[in-house]
Amino acid sequence: MKIAIPENFVIGAASSAWQTEGWKGKKEGQDSFIDSWYKNEKFVWHEGYGPAVATNFYENYTQDIALMKEIHLTHYRTSINWSRFFTDYEELNVDEEYAKHIDDMINEQIQAGVEPMICLEHYEVPKYLMDKYDGWSSKKVLELYVKYAKIAFERYGDRVKHWFTFNEPIVVQTRCYLDALRWPHEQNTKKWMLWNYHKALATARAVEVYHQLDLPGRIGCILNPEMVYPRSSSAEDQKAAEIYDLFFNKVFFDPMITGVYSKELIALCQKHDIYFDPTEKELATIKANTVDFLGINQYYPKRVRAPRYQWNEETPFHPERYYESFDLPGKQMNNSRGWEIYPEIMYDISMYLKTNYPPIPWLITENGMGREQEERYKNKDGIVQDDYRIEYISKHLYQLLRGIEDGSTCEGYMLWAFTDCVSPMNAFKNRYGLVRIELDEKRTRSLKKSAYWYRSLVDERLLSLSNVEEFK
Ligand code: BG6
Repeated sequence: MKIAIPENFVIGAASSAWQTEGWKGKKEGQDSFIDSWYKNEKFVWHEGYGPAVATNFYENYTQDIALMKEIHLTHYRTSINWSRFFTDYEELNVDEEYAKHIDDMINEQIQAGVEPMICLEHYEVPKYLMDKYDGWSSKKVLELYVKYAKIAFERYGDRVKHWFTFNEPIVVQTRCYLDALRWPHEQNTKKWMLWNYHKALATARAVEVYHQLDLPGRIGCILNPEMVYPRSSSAEDQKAAEIYDLFFNKVFFDPMITGVYSKELIALCQKHDIYFDPTEKELATIKANTVDFLGINQYYPKRVRAPRYQWNEETPFHPERYYESFDLPGKQMNNSRGWEIYPEIMYDISMYLKTNYPPIPWLITENGMGREQEERYKNKDGIVQDDYRIEYISKHLYQLLRGIEDGSTCEGYMLWAFTDCVSPMNAFKNRYGLVRIELDEKRTRSLKKSAYWYRSLVDERLLSLSNVEEFK
């Protein structure tokens, strides 16, 4: 049996600048935060690969856009690399060579019938702004970001109709300053919350500027809410899930959709001395400039239970004081990535948004399956037979379509990723693409079986339930 995909439902794919571009043409002093992580801690990057060459999209973009056209892709999202967009981040001197690359890429996409969607920051905050102002800890960086956003809107806003202020604005500070898993391994929970706040405020400011320019498009942010499931029906486990949801999901949903932070979150921040002390004017800006739409990245569920042990009061505050991760026996796994596979997250996020917030247009901006050693699955013609990816997408898409049936305002599904690309740390270990990238000098491309299948999905707009059943 096949189910119909609604007429205007977007079926696209995504990536980011730093994960594809490579450093060709990059000038002295144009490192991003992620570039400096790679330079400082190269040994944690799988087999030493990283942003330096990536997929060399900077030179290969016409080839990739031709492949998009070949599989009839209608939407592609990437980012502008903020760290490469200027030669001076305070004077805001644009690097015209890089800016022209963005222009050419956008034009090439449009000519190929692929609508460009652009994100202003996918972890590419300039190293210079980190060194001088401690990055998103600083209001100065916020001001410089808003000016950068305005320049980007003015240059490309006539052709780009979908803008995102950030990709997953919570991630960098969670890995670096809350969990201290990543370079520079500085544990600082107050800074974590301040970065969260400044990125919400920066989004509101960018939304304000975008609307003032009266351009023919819309602006939002890409969030990565984790659908959180309590271990049990006990009041304690339920409470653990609610607090997780506050700190990691509502912390962005509330200001961006309703323009107001929840009282519960503010009380918890004050109690644990991680409050971000907003001014009245800032709160008014957030209130007046909510997003037009949202991108949602969804990969795995988060399962929690009430903590079994008392918090060590001698350690810095962490929201984990209120929850403990729960490992569900029998869960399905993508063992390459270490993430649980639970397609119901797509239906559940749809109902979560419908229930908790006023109607807002949104789309899945990332979902996908990273798989190790995909060369194992090449057939005699060298085409990767990634049936597991087809099944994964089908099952997730099915749950998303169920959500639409039940009244969600979801407008589309964009796969991570169009081509294989560099992951933070895992580099090319797990392959996500519809397009295979060989790690030869040319970064040779080839379509996988899933690319041909995706083309038929775009053409026929019918999802085969046999792919869903097979996977059960
Ligand atoms: C998303 C990010 O969280 O997940 C991407 O926006 C990332 O940048 C993707 O590549 C997949 O995760 P990972 O860690 O396997 O690359």
